[in-house]
Amino acid sequence: MSYKTNDTDILLRKPKPEEGLGIYRLIANSPPLDLNSVYNYYLLTTHFADTCVVAEHGGQPRGFLSAYLRPDAPQVLFIWQVAVDAALRGKGVARMMLSSVMSRPECQGVEFIETTVGPSNAPSRALFESFAKKWNYPLDVTEFLPASAFGELEHESEELLRIGPVAPLGESQ
Ligand SMILES: CC(C)(COP(=O)(O)OP(=O)(O)OC[C@H]1O[C@@H](n2cnc3c(N)ncnc32)[C@H](O)[C@@H]1OP(=O)(O)O)[C@@H](O)C(=O)NCCC(=O)NCCS
Repeated sequence: MSYKTNDTDILLRKPKPEEGLGIYRLIANSPPLDLNSVYNYYLLTTHFADTCVVAEHGGQPRGFLSAYLRPDAPQVLFIWQVAVDAALRGKGVARMMLSSVMSRPECQGVEFIETTVGPSNAPSRALFESFAKKWNYPLDVTEFLPASAFGELEHESEELLRIGPVAPLGESQ
């Protein structure tokens, strides 16, 4: 799926297996996201490619959305990390990545979207609130992990945002 902002051409597509390192670098440049191992991102670009989205610009991954269908509840799409290169933010790229994954054949059975957000991550919260509002979907917030779950590591608590019931999206949405 191609997407054009006022001044930028973006291609939204599944990640390619060899893109794990490039995605690792994108996440490394996207605080406050937790940076996972390069190996982890190769798992996403291979085993989970059907539910992950790359936003390509200039031949490079400049945006990434990682997600999976929950093994214990396959009607739930769990969105793990969303990152957009700082130079491309505020152009609707994250919103389009979310719509793009929801329009895939692999997500036609999705009934709920879940994600977790730290209390201080306003842009992330705004992204999901905006998506829920646009489609008039209910959004519930509950505790997922307290800060104490991270032990001595300095890490905020994580709240669970659950959106739905949702309907599959068409290609043009
Ligand atoms: C969060 C992030 C992915 C948003 O990407 P983006 O492409 O700029 O977001 P979009 O342009 O698609 O905006 C989607 C919605 O969120 C809102 N939003 C985006 N950034 C925002 C900000 N900094 N403050 C307030 N609202 C913001 C937009 O206004 C828009 O809502 P609208 O459609 O009602 O106007 C990007 O800021 C980022 O990569 N941040 C660093 C990593 C991170 O925190 N990821 C989220 C954790 S999962």
